[in-house]
Amino acid sequence: MKKEIDGVVYDVPQHMAVIMDGNGRWAKKRLMPRVMGHRAGAKTLERCCEEVWDLGVKYFTVYAFSTENWKRSADEVAGIMDLFRTYMKDLAERGIKNNMRIRIIGDKTAIPQDIQDMIRNIEEKTAPMTGLQFNIAINYGGRDEIRRMVAKIAGKVKAGEITEEDITEEYISGNLDTWDIPDPDLLIRTSGEERISNYLLWQLAYAEFYFTDVLWPDMNRNEFIKAIKYYSDRDRRYGGAK
Ligand code: FPP
Repeated sequence: MKKEIDGVVYDVPQHMAVIMDGNGRWAKKRLMPRVMGHRAGAKTLERCCEEVWDLGVKYFTVYAFSTENWKRSADEVAGIMDLFRTYMKDLAERGIKNNMRIRIIGDKTAIPQDIQDMIRNIEEKTAPMTGLQFNIAINYGGRDEIRRMVAKIAGKVKAGEITEEDITEEYISGNLDTWDIPDPDLLIRTSGEERISNYLLWQLAYAEFYFTDVLWPDMNRNEFIKAIKYYSDRDRRYGGAK
């Protein structure tokens, strides 16, 4: 979608996905425990939802906890789970106030039960909202999502509900956690790493990638504008020629 930002017209991505990396290094630079970096990251995330909506983004999908993150120290995992509890306490109200529809993607069954209950409440209460669709990936892994999708579809074939011919790319997309969300147009990864780290493997097929050295807690409007400019200057051909 074309949008004027600070006097310049950009092609703004409809769906922006973000790998929020660098919380640990942000904390280390300040001689703080890692969890303080995650706390700062959570504050930044609140601000960023407003910023990206203001810039014209409609779908915003962030990687908060991967299926691999359970391998971190027990202290850090517990600290992040506690942060989710605090962050989610008033998330439904904040979602309603800001007209945000909130969804959690990932395998929710392995998340502590009280957090699952909070998630259900947030998703139900914000479902009618028509502004930013904000998706948070928790216990999410692209391969795990594809595995769950394959198991689901195999079950349907076995039950005779569908046949092999029904398994189109659209059908596969429609059986992922993001079944009703368009694919991301732009992926941003902060903190200088240039990896996909098992994020939205199917959905990122045609996305543009923007990498920045900014650590996630320092992410800001200016850097989002740089990413949008980068995206806007690209010539997306989806494998075709011009
Ligand atoms: C990566 O930084 C960050 C994470 C694994 C956790 C992301 C979590 C948040 C931003 C918290 C806020 C989210 C919600 C939904 C409340 P890292 O720890 O890998 O940093 P490092 O690479 O510098 O060590």
